[in-house]
This record gives sequence, C-alpha cells and structure tokens, in this order.
Amino acid sequence: MSNERGQFSSRFGFITAATGSAVGLGNIWGFPTQTASHGGGAFVLVYLVLAFLLAYPALMAELIIGRHTRHNMVRALPQLTTRPALKMFGRATGLYGVLVASLILSFYAIVAGWLMAQVPAALVNITGQPADTNWFAQSSLIRDSLFCALFSVLTAAIVARGVKDGIERWSTRLMPALVLLMLGLVATVLTLPGAMEGLRLYVVPDFSLITNPSLLTSAMGQAFFSLSLGVGTMLIYGSYVSKTDNLPLTGAYVALIDTGIAFLAGLLIIPAMFVARHRGIEIYSDENTLIAGPDLILQTLPELFNSLGFVGAFIGLIFFLLLSIAALTSSISMLEVPVTFALEQFKISRPRATGLVASIIFGISLLILFNVEQLFGTVVTATTKYSQPLLGVMLCLFAGWVLHRDKLLGEISEGFAGAKESLFWKIWPGYIRVVCPLLIIIMFVQNIRG
Ligand code: TRP
Repeated sequence: MSNERGQFSSRFGFITAATGSAVGLGNIWGFPTQTASHGGGAFVLVYLVLAFLLAYPALMAELIIGRHTRHNMVRALPQLTTRPALKMFGRATGLYGVLVASLILSFYAIVAGWLMAQVPAALVNITGQPADTNWFAQSSLIRDSLFCALFSVLTAAIVARGVKDGIERWSTRLMPALVLLMLGLVATVLTLPGAMEGLRLYVVPDFSLITNPSLLTSAMGQAFFSLSLGVGTMLIYGSYVSKTDNLPLTGAYVALIDTGIAFLAGLLIIPAMFVARHRGIEIYSDENTLIAGPDLILQTLPELFNSLGFVGAFIGLIFFLLLSIAALTSSISMLEVPVTFALEQFKISRPRATGLVASIIFGISLLILFNVEQLFGTVVTATTKYSQPLLGVMLCLFAGWVLHRDKLLGEISEGFAGAKESLFWKIWPGYIRVVCPLLIIIMFVQNIRG
C-alpha cells in the first residue's frame, strides 16, 4: 500500500500544501468580514486565542490519526479499534466527513467563481470601459455557472495529477505568490487617507464585546473552517507526511501561518473599508454595523477600487487574483477527500476518480446556483456551523480515547525524539480527551440556541 500512496517530498512541501489548504476564502473573505460584523479588535483577539486553544489541538488529532493509519478518514477511524460497534461508528463518521467535504466544495466553488469573474472584470476596468457595462462585474446565472465550471476544472486538473506533482507543486508555486501580493496590497492601502481609522478599529479591542456569545461561537466556527478541520482534509494530508517529520512542530507552523495570513487579510480589508468611507462610499449598513458578508467583498471593495481610477483597477486585479489563488489551493484539498475515498474504495485510477467525483460535485454546485435563495445559506450553515464542529469533536474523541496511548506516543515520537518529555505530550492528550470536546460542545449548544 505505502508504495502506491503519494507522499510529500519534504517538510516544506507539506507545510505549503497544508497551509495552502488552510489559507483560503476563510482567511481573506471570512475572517475580515466576521471581524467587521463583530466590532473589530475584540473579534481578532478572541479568534487568535481560540485558534491556538481549540483549533491547533484538533488539527494535531487529525494529522496524527492520518499519519498513523495512512488512510482516508473512512478507513482510518475503524482501524483505530477492534470493537465492531466502534468500527462501524468510525466508518459512519468518516462517510459523514466525506459528504461534508464534498458539500463544502460545492458552495466554495460557487463563491470562488464569483471572485474569479472579478479578475476579467478588473481587466475590463483597466481599459477604461464604464463599470456598469462590464459583463464580468455583474452576477448572472450564466456568468456564475461558467466561472464555477472553470474553477471546478482547474481544481480537478490539479488533483488528478496526484500529491507530489499536483497538490505539492502547485501549492509551493501559488502560496509564496499569494503572500507577496498580499504584503504589497497592505503596504499600498495603509498609505491611503482614512486607513488609520480602520487600523485603530482593527487592532484596539473593545473589551465590552468579548463575552458576547455570538462573537465566541463565530470565532470558533471561523477557526475550524480556516484550519480545514473536521472533514478529513488534514487527516488525509497527514497521511502523506513522512515519518521523519516532527508533527507537533509542523502542525504549529501550519496554524501560525494560517492565523498570520488571516490577520494580514484583515489588515488589508478593514483599513480599505475606511479608505472607501473617506472617499464617500457607504460602509455602515445601519448606524453602528459595518457592512459585511458578500456585499463587502463584491460591492464595497470594487467601488473603492473604481474610485481610485487606473491604480485602483490595478489593485482590484491583484486582489481578486489573490483570492482566486487562495481559493484554488484550498479547493484541491477538499476535492482530495472524496477522491481518495473513491480511489481506495473502488480501486479506480486517480484521474478517473477525480473526473467522476468532480463532476458529481459540480452537479451539486449547479443545483445550488439555480436555487440560490433556498439552498445556498442552508448548505453553508449545515456544513460549517453544525457539521464541522460535531465532526471535530468526534475526531478529538477518536484520537484521545480510541487510539491507544502507547500508539499515540509512538506516533508523535516519530521524527520527534524528545516527545515523551515534551510539554506537548504533558498537555495535549488530556486536553484532547476532555477539554477540547467539552469546549466545542458548549459552544455548539450555544450556537444552536442562538
Ligand atoms: N480552510 C479553507 C479556507 O479557509 C477552506 C477549506 C479547505 C476547508 N479545506 C476545507 C474548510 C475542509 C472546511 C473543511 O478557505
């Protein structure tokens, strides 16, 4: 088995692929818009704390199960136990993960399509054509379907090439480009009039907001989404990691880079909103609430870019290119979940499995697109708000209670000689058994009641 399985060629390869998965629309769109709708700095602070208190330990659970079993989630979980009932439960959990990953991809590809359409839209703007005659800039069923199809084909083309030549190669190319583009944009925006007001809102927390339950649950959901947790994405990437890599350290890099890039995106978008305000663009939807959600990214920001003339059109181009790249390195990691499942289950070739699965998911995307009002919000909520945290709890419980403690230590010790005496080993196992699941469940219940 281990010979046919792909493997990342180096720790750097894994880190770029895993951060490629983690860094996506969740960071560049989700995090800033959530920050905007939850009053700025307070959300940022809570998010940073939860990312390391909850999301990092859960990430480690997935990576460890993945590398230990070297299988996809459907096979990995049953393999951790000999008890038949628990085996069946593990299998069901794995299948649930595959389903959720596929559904997340089906709406993610739609959003990515909207954003990708803004790239030619910005090019048209650069030619000086008036914005209201720009076909690419306005949503229509045909534009949205076409760009969703384009995005799905790109995703499938990379996944069909496999772990090293597809996922790793493209992540190592695209991720550094993304960071550079982003740094350039932040530097540009921060010099514009109005930016400092946004910066203040972003970095100075209003402590009276911190205990707000909706802020807490949103921050947790955001952290889980951002680190691609729950559905077996990180588990399958973990299964491609070499036994000579130090997992806790590698996982920490991934979590750090992911949070760092979310922070950077906020540093770009919140000040940009206030630059827009300075130029007479409305950024409050009512007295105290900042515009958030799709309107922020698809209306307010393009308005800002348009108002800045030629330079603005150019900034717009780079910004939407950046979002498209980030979305692509994430979508490949989602597609990898059902593809490896199909591949290992039905013993078909990777290109064939990819074509099959990608077509089905694209069908679901179309279904959602043609019934946006009824389906879009429902699918997003069912997958990210409910399923991801629930699956996260399951994975913590499997790593903490089902996987034997000696095996756990054995796995962590591979590539990490001093594991047994490490702080990680003193804290993490107990943490993942009790604290992590409890915290997630408490927030989850609040989430449902709210
Ligand atoms: N984390 C990615 C983002 O921030 C999205 C993502 C990739 C994801 N794989 C996932 C989300 C699996 C949930 C589950 O955009």
